[in-house]
Amino acid sequence: MPKLNVVIGLDELRRARRRLDGEVGFVPTMGYLHEGHLSLVRRAREECRHIIVSIFVNPAQFGPGEDLSKYPRDVERDLTLLEPLSVDVVWTPTAGIMYPEGHQTWVDVAELAKPLEGAARPGHFRGVTTVVAKLFNAVQPDRAYFGQKDAQQAVVIRRMTLDLNFPIEVVVCPTVREEDGLAMSSRNKYLDGEERKAAPVLYQALSEAKAAFDKGERSAEALRQLMREVLAAQPLAQVQYVSCADQDTLDELQTVKGKALLSMAVFIGKTRLIDNFLLE
Ligand code: PAJ
Repeated sequence: MPKLNVVIGLDELRRARRRLDGEVGFVPTMGYLHEGHLSLVRRAREECRHIIVSIFVNPAQFGPGEDLSKYPRDVERDLTLLEPLSVDVVWTPTAGIMYPEGHQTWVDVAELAKPLEGAARPGHFRGVTTVVAKLFNAVQPDRAYFGQKDAQQAVVIRRMTLDLNFPIEVVVCPTVREEDGLAMSSRNKYLDGEERKAAPVLYQALSEAKAAFDKGERSAEALRQLMREVLAAQPLAQVQYVSCADQDTLDELQTVKGKALLSMAVFIGKTRLIDNFLLE
């Protein structure tokens, strides 16, 4: 097996990038990789000649009091998982490289970053769009792969890519789940035994709302209420928000007409989980 080319510095990354000819697919991550991340790498493998993966726990997208310091990290394990997938370059920049001393330039998507995760985590998307713009500038990929798991992030990044004229195709890939429906996430590691058993309640709430939609329910409030009821029956779950929104504008709906995004953020104990379904 060819050894992975792991680079850290910007010059090193740019040199490695220049050696790749043909289409380059890019998968940005914060590491502690699981099957969700690997599904993006496999999709990029199918569609692009070369693949670059970045691993960077981006301080700018964590709020004060969030889990930056305890966010799980294991780069050795990540590299072992990437090795068999024929990744050309793994970029693991440091915070000093991504945010040089005196850094004061930010990328803000004005409206789409406001509701849902943006309201619950002020400043989060400013951190995400800033780092993704910087990663895009450095890597210069033809395609970039993101997960539907973070539905609003995908919408916000698609908008930023258009608005900043990045010549990059944003590809959004389906959410990968555990057998019991729990969406894979690096943060699932925080769950203890009882919490892990309770965590599929997000998937159950989304599934019940989708079943009601499939039977003809078109009142967005009825769908939100149904999700709240399923979540309320789980004593370990504390709901932060439940939403049924337009999938493009992210405005809360009254009536589901075209495509709608059901989404939620729920604390299971101290761990904050998000999940969503797209209704078509
Ligand atoms: P991270 O949470 O590591 O996720 C990296 C990518 O994997 C994101 O596009 C995310 O949506 C996708 N992903 C995570 N869990 C998934 C699952 N269960 N199924 C499918 N895809 C999944 O998202 C980030 O990092 C950061 O915000 C980042 C974009 C790297 C910017 O810092």
